[in-house]
Amino acid sequence: MKAVIPAAGLGTRLLPMTKVQPKEMMPVLNKPAIQYVVEEASHGGFDQILIITNRNKKIMEDHFDRNFELEMVLKKKGADKALKELEAIEGLADLFYLRQKEQKGLGDAVLIGEHFTSAESFAVLLGDDIIISDIPAIKQLWEAHLKVRAPVIGLEIVPEDHVERYGIVDPGEEIEPGLFKLNSVVEKPKKEDAPSQMAIIGRYILDPDIFTWLRESKSGVGGELQLTDSLARYINTKGLYGMIMKGHRVDIGSTSDWLKANLEVALLDPDIRPKVSEYFDELRSQGRI
Ligand code: G1P
Repeated sequence: MKAVIPAAGLGTRLLPMTKVQPKEMMPVLNKPAIQYVVEEASHGGFDQILIITNRNKKIMEDHFDRNFELEMVLKKKGADKALKELEAIEGLADLFYLRQKEQKGLGDAVLIGEHFTSAESFAVLLGDDIIISDIPAIKQLWEAHLKVRAPVIGLEIVPEDHVERYGIVDPGEEIEPGLFKLNSVVEKPKKEDAPSQMAIIGRYILDPDIFTWLRESKSGVGGELQLTDSLARYINTKGLYGMIMKGHRVDIGSTSDWLKANLEVALLDPDIRPKVSEYFDELRSQGRI
C-alpha cells in the first residue's frame, strides 16, 4: 500500500529553528517528528512511502538511510540497543523522495505524488502532525475506507478559537460512532463562518480523482493550492467521510506547540514521566510557575 507524506513546507512559524533544519526534523523527545509519521504509516501497513521534500531538506533522506560509520562504532562499543534502533529506522518501508520546486501549497505537494500512487487509493499523512495511538491513525482511516468504499479524512474537535488554523467540516450524518458522511469542508474559515469545531487533521485516504481536481483547482486561502478545496469535490460525487481519530495528536506548527509536543510525548513515556513531574513540582515549589 502506498502513502504520500508532504514535508516540503518552509516552517516559517518555527524560525529561526528551521532556518537550516527542516521542520519535520525537529526532535520530539528523542526522534525527529517525521520518524513518528513514517512509523505510523509503516505500522499501518503502508510499505511504499513517498516523501515530498524540497531542495533544503536532504537530511531527511539521510535520516532514513544507513549510516555505516555510526553502525561500526556502535558495534565496536557493543551498543546493541542503539544499533537495533538504527536498523529499525532503515527497515521501516521503501522510501521514495520527490521535490516540490516551489512553495505552492499542500494541494500542489500532493499532486506531485500522482505517478507514484497510480490508480490505487492511497494515504496522505502530513509530516508535522503526530498522532500517538495504539492502532496507527492511518490504519483506523484505512479500515473505515474499506467499510465505506470512499475517501475518508481524519478529524479532531478543536477549541472554537482554533478553527481558523484548520480545514473544518460540516459533519452531516453520523453513520457509526465517530464516522460521519460529510456535508461540506472549508479551509481555515473565520470563527463565525465555521460549520463546526471538527477540524481536519493531517490524515487522509484518497483516490486518484483528487489529482484531476487538484489540476483543475485555483489557488485558495493564502494564495496556495489547497487540498481541502479539492476534497470538497468528493462530496457531490462518491461522498467524503470523516472519522474522529482515536489517539492523541500533537503538532509542531509553532514554537509553543513544538514545546508542548515534547512535553506531551515525554509524559507518555513511563521512564521520563516521573522526571518531568518532579521538575514541574520543583518549579512550582520555587514559585517559578
Ligand atoms: C493543513 C490543511 C488543513 C488541516 C491542517 C492540519 O493546513 O490544509 O486543512 O486542517 O493541515 O494540520 P496547514 O497546517 O498546512 O496550514
